[in-house]
Amino acid sequence: MIVRIVGFFAGLAFVSALFVAFVMPREKGEVAASVLFHAEPEPVHFSFDNPIWGKYDPAQLQRGFQVYQEVCSACHSMKLVAFRDLEQIGFTKPEVKAIAKQWKTEVPTFDEKTGDAKTRKAIAADYIPSPFPNETAARAANNNALPPDMSDLAKSREGGAAYIHALITGYRDQVGYKNEKGQELLKMYPDAKTPPGLHFNPYFANLNIAMPPPLTADGQVTYADGTKATVNQMSTDVSAFLMWAAEPKLENRHRTGIAVVIFLIIATLLAYGSYQTIWRDKKH
Ligand code: HEC
Repeated sequence: MIVRIVGFFAGLAFVSALFVAFVMPREKGEVAASVLFHAEPEPVHFSFDNPIWGKYDPAQLQRGFQVYQEVCSACHSMKLVAFRDLEQIGFTKPEVKAIAKQWKTEVPTFDEKTGDAKTRKAIAADYIPSPFPNETAARAANNNALPPDMSDLAKSREGGAAYIHALITGYRDQVGYKNEKGQELLKMYPDAKTPPGLHFNPYFANLNIAMPPPLTADGQVTYADGTKATVNQMSTDVSAFLMWAAEPKLENRHRTGIAVVIFLIIATLLAYGSYQTIWRDKKH
């Protein structure tokens, strides 16, 4: 009995604490600067958006790969994607071979006779190598931040491809941000000022990102298919490519979904039909 009473009051205490925490008004100035400055990614139209018939556009994925190859791969690895996987986005076998052979970073290996470490040119079966030999070197080159591996980046961030697009095109001048409100906000929160070596980006969770703006000028890459390489276009293409890398089987998943729905419809009709047949002459 006594245990029940004690339990009841303990529960009551918890509930009241929760209630107070939710209902108590926040003091002015208590909202973090990262909330006030933060921006939600704007929606971007992608060919694979639709959950039923959304499909990747191979031409776009190839352009996105080109942006990754020429720009992002200087810092970001893609350890779960092998060169030969690129055949899935429309590159031919000889093209994939050539891409691997010309890759800027060679693959680490060792000398069979001496055991010394050395590197060799990549082949189609290799995974896309990291541009840095290890994490320490990667951090040393990037203001102590680690460029994340890109294999599943589009799936591991809220907002996915649209977030990546917003982030890449979202570098702003901190003071002028939000119609000069930046200045006001900075007066309220002097600590929120972007430290040297970091870059203000309202789409990044803590607003100050160590990655310098990677796409800065139209025509930074020259697309083989003649598409005009505006910053917006390059950023959309590379975001689509990263989505493919993170979920190469998206189209299969959509197709399976349709098949399952059709199966369920047929199964329902059959079940209804047999119910009607079994009970046809019975009074019920
Ligand atoms: C000069 C090196 C460099 C290049 C080039 C570069 N990045 Fe980065 N990137 C970084 C670093 C460093 C971070 C980690 C930033 C941090 O944690 O502050 C990062 C982080 C990211 C993130 C993760 C942000 C998050 O939410 O954690 C994305 C997405 C990204 N980069 C996309 C790209 C794309 C796309 C390209 C090519 C168009 C690119 N990066 C080129 C260095 C680079």
